[in-house]
Amino acid sequence: MFSRYKKPGQTPAAKPTTAPVENPTQPAAEQAKVVRRAEAPKASQSPTEDKAKKRKQRLGEIKSALHRELLDNLNLAALENATETDLRQEIVSIASEALEEMGVVLNREERNTLNQELFDEVTGLGPLEPLLKDDTINDILVNGPQQVFVERDGKLELSTVTFKDERHLLRIIDKIVSAVGRRVDESNPYVDARLQDGSRFNAMVPPVAVDGSLVSIRKFKKDKLGIDDLVNFGAFTEEMAAYLQAAVSTRLNIIVSGGTGSGKTTTLNALSSFIDNSERILTIEDTAELQLQQLHVGRMESRPPNVEGKGEVSPRDCLKNALRMRPDRIIVGETRGEEVIDMLQAMNTGHDGSMTTIHANSARDGISRLENMIAMAGIEMPLKAVRNQISSAVNLIVQASRLQDGSRRMTSITEITGMEGDVISLQEVFRYQRVGLTSDNKIIGHFTATGVRSHFSERFRMWGYDLPTSIFEPIAAE
Ligand SMILES: Nc1ncnc2c1ncn2[C@@H]1O[C@H](COP(=O)(O)OP(=O)(O)OP(=O)(O)O)[C@@H](O)[C@H]1O
Ligand SMILES: [Mg+2]
Repeated sequence: MFSRYKKPGQTPAAKPTTAPVENPTQPAAEQAKVVRRAEAPKASQSPTEDKAKKRKQRLGEIKSALHRELLDNLNLAALENATETDLRQEIVSIASEALEEMGVVLNREERNTLNQELFDEVTGLGPLEPLLKDDTINDILVNGPQQVFVERDGKLELSTVTFKDERHLLRIIDKIVSAVGRRVDESNPYVDARLQDGSRFNAMVPPVAVDGSLVSIRKFKKDKLGIDDLVNFGAFTEEMAAYLQAAVSTRLNIIVSGGTGSGKTTTLNALSSFIDNSERILTIEDTAELQLQQLHVGRMESRPPNVEGKGEVSPRDCLKNALRMRPDRIIVGETRGEEVIDMLQAMNTGHDGSMTTIHANSARDGISRLENMIAMAGIEMPLKAVRNQISSAVNLIVQASRLQDGSRRMTSITEITGMEGDVISLQEVFRYQRVGLTSDNKIIGHFTATGVRSHFSERFRMWGYDLPTSIFEPIAAE
């Protein structure tokens, strides 16, 4: 077989074996500590299911053997300049030659799938590739080699994708993290990274991950959901959007609160679209996810310490530095630690209109989280002073929630109106009112104003946002 991409001097493909694929980059010690998932007892399977499973297993073995074959035979240096068509052709010809030698006959569909999987193994992230390409998937969650969950439409489902074994999964993890100059092994068992396409990636490997490596990927959406999309999806109403536009434009300080994956970043991103193009915005994130459309945006990404424990640039470092960079507004992707102090100070001292997110289940809970963060940062301040600081810094808390039916909604918009004695006073302006559940477990409910007059009505009016009073009238349940 003639091949431009074949290593020079290679003899024709040696008889492939079905031995597991070795990872050339994986240290031997790591390869040795492969953790196998305990096989759960299975219900007895029908003969057809059993046959299909055996066939899948056999195909998996063939694929591993062929992958090894490809890595042995392809000239990886020449590959860098190869076009996709050339590479695909190459894979097809090496694979069919090897299959022939192995005496394996596959139908056209199996052959096509195999060739695509081999292509993904060589150039991409193997079994993860089809999931990464599938735009209907938001999250990919791997619990060891045999279990890959995906999130579609807010619901988690088990995918049919599996890895051959833990070593295969580790090899893919290693490929991802080494591409960004990081390492993951027994001494650094977990790692955060950003994939080439911008997706957020986290992995934790054995022995800390008990049943095999754990991987979580939050897919990067090229077209982030905008205000109109969110209104169309029923995440909030047009009236709420009009209120939020006034809030952002008149430079209220806003915190988006919510649980994991509840849509905080998406909401923050959508809110930022109301910021005027003439303003200088600085963003600080652990993994750059925000996609601001304005002209004048400076993006910062904090950095964990390297393998030697050096080189850390914390969100607080970024925030302190940002204050020297003449920002009009600062947007912090998530406040979860000592940076809270600087965030509140920034909000209090001329950078009004700043925004951030926190993990909390309600506005009141969000305030407690802020208080805890301040206490944990080692700031010795009486509680009342802490609350004063919070109440004068934060104007609005927007609650994002993922409801039990998978839908994501803005379940509350709450204003901070000041202090009453030792307590921060809050007033809810809009809320999502749940009224019941359909037979297929979909939540029935509607958004409504609570009937209170916004604390910021005057401010809105002064800035030219004369919101009609009807926006603030409650909607009676049907
Ligand atoms: N209202 C919505 N309708 C449908 N999908 C949404 C909605 N809001 C967010 N999503 C999708 O849900 C996923 C999670 O959203 P997002 O990243 O904003 O959550 P998060 O709260 O910031 O998560 P994390 O806690 O992991 O940072 C994303 O893929 C996003 O596109
Ligand atoms: Mg987020």
